Amino acid sequence: MESSRLRILLTRKWPKKVEEYLGDHFDVQLNEQDLPMTAVELRAALQDFDVLCPTVTDLLGEEVFGVSPIRTKLIANFGVGYNHIALDSAEQAGIQITNTPGVLTDATAEIAMMLILMSARRAGEGERHLRAGQWSGWRPTHMLSTQVTGKTLGIIGMGRIGTRLARQAHHGFGMQIIYGNRSRAAESVEVELGAEYCSVEEVFERSDFLSLNCPANQETKHLANEQMIRRMKPSAHLINTARGDVVDESALSAALSNREIAGAGLDVYENEPEVTGSLASLEQVVLLPHMGSGTVETREAMGFRAVANIEAFAERSVLPDLVVIH
Ligand code: 8YV
Repeated sequence: MESSRLRILLTRKWPKKVEEYLGDHFDVQLNEQDLPMTAVELRAALQDFDVLCPTVTDLLGEEVFGVSPIRTKLIANFGVGYNHIALDSAEQAGIQITNTPGVLTDATAEIAMMLILMSARRAGEGERHLRAGQWSGWRPTHMLSTQVTGKTLGIIGMGRIGTRLARQAHHGFGMQIIYGNRSRAAESVEVELGAEYCSVEEVFERSDFLSLNCPANQETKHLANEQMIRRMKPSAHLINTARGDVVDESALSAALSNREIAGAGLDVYENEPEVTGSLASLEQVVLLPHMGSGTVETREAMGFRAVANIEAFAERSVLPDLVVIH
């Protein structure tokens, strides 16, 4: 397929450098207004474009693929997570899907570490307190918090991001690492990090900080539900930089309100951009607007990773980041 003839749609505004590159090499339609696309617009896009480049805000459910004929042959997702795309429906429509793994590992692990530190050290609460003019000065018992160094970090999902976080936490903060994962990590990783492979239940029970770094799928939906949160220590903090629906937000909110756990740090939500109301009213929760991968370096790298997949598709070569559906 001649690359300049490929019709490509970016569903949201991408970093300028990547948009310019795409504009120089392909027939690309940009979304200058940067508004989320509706289901109707997405359906029309599947009929009009060869390549669709969505983000997490584009809900490509089964019903969106129910149009005919479909022109799209490639969905080059801007992001590593693809739980917003109905994979089976895309496959049935003859569409291949790629994502952008690897390039957002550091940025997302950084945000997870930051949430651990912020939640433990009451950073958000402290800043709100100061900005509200409530700080009356230093005193020995003012805003005491919990130390992170030397504590136990439990990681659910020891993939790229989970492993990077474990490294930062172990080498940087002397944390003990325990983890739950479908399969055991390489022995070299366990040895380097002194990481202990545990059942998911045990990770919930033993962690001082519990970080969710697993993909969102049927198996992990509401993994952190009422029963599992109840297993956590009352002093523990729950950190989520994975996907909102790995956590039952109402159960988390109730557990925090009842002081069943000490705190939480969240970057993702079940119904973004909405946040379960009661969570936002709690001081012991740090809430970030899904900015895990949000550095200039990373967002450009994500864009160029998608470009690499589009170019491979145009050249009919192997897609570097093909999502294997079955
Ligand atoms: C992205 C993410 O920014 O890549 C992912 O899966 O969660 C985010 O960091 C977002 O998904 C963009 O589509």
